[in-house]
Amino acid sequence: MIANGGAKRGFAPETQDESPCHTGGSELSEIPPCTLVLFGATGDLTSRKIIPALFSMHTQGLLPPDFQVVAFARRPKTDTSFREDLQHSIRQFASRLNADGEEWTKFAASVYYVQSDLDDAEGYQRLSQRLLELEKGQAQRRLFYLATPPDYFSTIIQHLGTAGLNQAEGPDGWARIIIEKPFGTDLESARQLNNLLRPVFKEDQIYRIDHYLGKETVQNILVLRFANQIFEPLWNQKYIDNIQITVAETLGMEGRGAFFEHAGITRDIVQNHALQVLTLIAMEPPCSLNADAIRDEKVKVLRSIRPIEGHEAVAASTVRGQYGPGVTAEGEAVSGYREEGNVDPHSSTETFAAFRFHLDNWRWSGVPFYVQAGKRLAKRTTSVRIQFKAVPEVLFARQACSGVQPNVLTLRIQPDEGASLEIGSKTPGPQLQVHPVEMNFEYGSSFNAPIRDAYERLILDAIRGDASLFARDDEVEAAWSIITPILEAWRDLSCPLFPNYQAGSWGPEAANTLLREGTVWTRP
Ligand SMILES: NC(=O)c1ccc[n+]([C@@H]2O[C@H](COP(=O)([O-])OP(=O)(O)OC[C@H]3O[C@@H](n4cnc5c(N)ncnc54)[C@H](OP(=O)(O)O)[C@@H]3O)[C@@H](O)[C@H]2O)c1
Repeated sequence: MIANGGAKRGFAPETQDESPCHTGGSELSEIPPCTLVLFGATGDLTSRKIIPALFSMHTQGLLPPDFQVVAFARRPKTDTSFREDLQHSIRQFASRLNADGEEWTKFAASVYYVQSDLDDAEGYQRLSQRLLELEKGQAQRRLFYLATPPDYFSTIIQHLGTAGLNQAEGPDGWARIIIEKPFGTDLESARQLNNLLRPVFKEDQIYRIDHYLGKETVQNILVLRFANQIFEPLWNQKYIDNIQITVAETLGMEGRGAFFEHAGITRDIVQNHALQVLTLIAMEPPCSLNADAIRDEKVKVLRSIRPIEGHEAVAASTVRGQYGPGVTAEGEAVSGYREEGNVDPHSSTETFAAFRFHLDNWRWSGVPFYVQAGKRLAKRTTSVRIQFKAVPEVLFARQACSGVQPNVLTLRIQPDEGASLEIGSKTPGPQLQVHPVEMNFEYGSSFNAPIRDAYERLILDAIRGDASLFARDDEVEAAWSIITPILEAWRDLSCPLFPNYQAGSWGPEAANTLLREGTVWTRP
């Protein structure tokens, strides 16, 4: 009997429906053995993120019994030499984990290496053979992880189909595929990739990863909104003035210049991470925590974003920037983008972008969503700032009391994960003066538990067959349909005079023109 990825799962349906709330406990012990096939196993992402995540999950007992990893890459290696390489990676990139003890020996023994070029059909036959040997006649449960350069995604998908690896033998078998970002570079290429996937993998076999969704604090947006009575009644255009989403990085290219030249910050960060956060902030309550129920609501948000199309609209609602030389907050002098390695000295790639979006729906009519993302900014922070409307000026303003400010709820996604609420309070003393004070919640100190890496959560969910935190086909296409016309207009419009902000600053001054009067950008 042939089973696909989503139809047969190794644990009870009720766990499926509720799974965004369940990452521990007895359900995990019910996950049957499975194999993760890792394409791009000698790459940077594997060393830095995927293997540390898997080993960390192993040490916490989060992996199913008899879990195995079959690594697939081009360089000639044996199982033994590959395991040694991974051990070095753990020491280098995840020193919090002990790569020299008994647990590592146990974990490493379950890792195997298949050497092949991704273009070589015969390599997939050898992979198939190796999987059969390792599964020893047990049900086929296979998770294919595409951690290769995106140019190879379509090649791998086609070869998996031709080799019959898109289907699994046995009533309890499944075959699923995780696809790394970027999923396309514009609407057309994302559609092409979806069209190429469809005949090979059904939608419920496909897990398009956006590691932001694996972050505890991003998941906490839904909990904050829908597990608390106090926020939801105010969460609309009647009470909220504007919302700002900031994804600010202090780093420059760090050797990724060649990649970034073709991507820019909008493709790299805004189309995926920033818009994902926006959907969680703006969505209606889903009818359940089921993957499709959540994703249905997210897609509705994306479809309600008013298109920014045409040169005039794009010029009025977006701002691009590129950093020049400057000084970081730590006092280090750093070079400009055009001086980075593998970057064109006349590059017009944007390292900063800011947008003013409007959502044409009942809840958010008239509330601007400001989004900014940039490299080499003054501080590393990802946050959402929800500014409430000002109170009517009938009491304190008339009595000439200064200091009444709108309430602001800030959700800190990284670092210093947590949330804070600014409220007005009377300053001590004989006069009636109002001053904003902050109520603060910190994830770290409140739960006294380390925040797990997003990849751990996402890989575990894919093993469990829960796609809630992964993007659906219509969702990525809806996100690209917002961003693509902007990228096209930028290509036609004359480029701003780059560089237009100093490394270590908060981006180009022009970004302020997007804000309405009385609003300022988040400057944590
Ligand atoms: N690195 C990150 O921090 C990061 C973050 C988010 C997303 N991603 C995404 O993750 C994916 C991988 O990125 P990466 O930085 O890990 O890339 P990378 O370091 O360049 O690694 C590429 C991997 O693909 C393999 N490969 C390339 N061509 C091949 C071929 N013809 N045949 C067989 N194997 C081949 C390489 O194997 P050999 O070395 O053996 O040739 C290597 O294992 C990309 O889609 C990227 O966008 C990466």
